[in-house]
Amino acid sequence: MNNFPKWLNTAVFYQVYPQSFCDGNGDGIGDLNGLVSELDYISNTGFNAIWLNPCFDSPFKDAGYDVKNYFKVAPRYGTNDDLVRLFKEAHNRGMHVILDLVPGHTSDKCRWFKQSAKPTRNRYSDRYIWTNSGWARPEGYNWVTGNADRNGTYMLNFFLNQPALNYGFNVVTDPDWQISYRDKRVKPTLEAMKKVMRFWLDKGADGFRVDMADSLVKNDPDKTATAWLWRKVRAMLDRHYPEAVLVSEWCNAPVAINKARFHCDFLLNHGNKLTDYAFYKRDKEGKSTAYFCKTAHVSAKNMLSVYLRELNQTRNNGYISVISGNHDVERLSYFLDDSERRVAFAFLLTLPGVPFVYYGDEIGMRYIPQQSKEGGFHRTGSRTPMQWDDALPNMGFSTAKANKLYLDVDRTPDAPSAAGQMRDKSSLWNEVHTLLELRRTQTDLQSDGELEVTECGENGVLCYRRGQHTYVAINPTDEERKLSDVVGSKRLFEIGRATDGDGFALLAPQTVVVFEK
Ligand code: GLC
Ligand code: CA
Repeated sequence: MNNFPKWLNTAVFYQVYPQSFCDGNGDGIGDLNGLVSELDYISNTGFNAIWLNPCFDSPFKDAGYDVKNYFKVAPRYGTNDDLVRLFKEAHNRGMHVILDLVPGHTSDKCRWFKQSAKPTRNRYSDRYIWTNSGWARPEGYNWVTGNADRNGTYMLNFFLNQPALNYGFNVVTDPDWQISYRDKRVKPTLEAMKKVMRFWLDKGADGFRVDMADSLVKNDPDKTATAWLWRKVRAMLDRHYPEAVLVSEWCNAPVAINKARFHCDFLLNHGNKLTDYAFYKRDKEGKSTAYFCKTAHVSAKNMLSVYLRELNQTRNNGYISVISGNHDVERLSYFLDDSERRVAFAFLLTLPGVPFVYYGDEIGMRYIPQQSKEGGFHRTGSRTPMQWDDALPNMGFSTAKANKLYLDVDRTPDAPSAAGQMRDKSSLWNEVHTLLELRRTQTDLQSDGELEVTECGENGVLCYRRGQHTYVAINPTDEERKLSDVVGSKRLFEIGRATDGDGFALLAPQTVVVFEK
């Protein structure tokens, strides 16, 4: 790839939810110093990059996706200096750190918004999307009325507390209040966001995961205007920060990568995507029909169809990022049992592109349904504290009293912990560790290496070539399956068991073999 940060070819990201990762000062909530103290864990596991969920000043009505001040670390996580120290400590270990940029909306407590809500015109009047009457509720978007003296209603981008920043409209249907995205009145919005980016890049950040990246320009059905804005941002990076990366929450790789020029685009659970078929799909009765469910016995065809097409379309322009999960979905362990997750991880970590693993998924942390916290709703169950050590109070997450914790830790007697799993050679952690080490040393398996599916049978068997000569054969089912090729003796990784016959191999239930040919 030309004009591309080279480090992405070997990058494997670990997603850290700051409030739940490690509490450094014993107040019950995770913080930056806590994270710094666990960088060695992340690095020793085999990850070399971190995506940190929003850590900026915020009223936390959406766990920090409602930013009040983009230039200030939230006091509950520490100070700007602590964040700079995180960058330094990570860089010292050869790791990269990307921050979470929320460009589509702010908190309604943001100074920009308070100014914008004033009835007298000022430089922030057009920073948000307002109608020209306090009674208007145009269709197609959500509006807040009666919350400000300004004679207008304002558009929401997500929750009630998240007014939409104004990047203009592509198709203007009501010129009385809609501003074209090319109008100079909305230009300061993108400039402000670019300033935020430069501020943190200059302090040592290695890039951004971009929240709701597709949401900037309104009435932009094919996203041409939104993509046009992102190309400007990419141009700034190419010119001044060529090593910095942009990862989009878009889930439409051809648009995000080819048109908007993101370096990576997340593959999320949007209905017909790889992870839907891999982990989440269920039939009407609620029975899993996911590829990695051992009793589902489905072909990998559906799982791969959209993915392969998008992979092809974006080759040489950017990476599709598969994820083990994130802070918005139930954890992997909610859908797949331990043995199924092992097969799934071997798949995730041998795909091209830049993979992301959600903290705690590497030890099989559970999804714990519970009361909503900070706008989490059902997502709260995936946001519980990292389980470090079952011999320590609060699993080693915090020294605070249990009732002071941000969220309670998993207190079930057999709850997994990092320490426990690192001691146990047969643990999920050890498998993930081995796979990451394999990916580090086997160039074929890295982000750039191409992918060609060599077998995708109705019997559920899947085999693909990565790069020049590395192959991955998978039988996710609970029955023995036949692969129409031998796996040979140059086996680089094996779970389950593969036995070669004459021109074929028998794959024991739930087997993955990575081999060279
Ligand atoms: C993204 C975030 C999610 C947040 C939303 C609004 O989807 O991942 O957590 O609530 O955007 O910012
Ligand atoms: Ca703390």
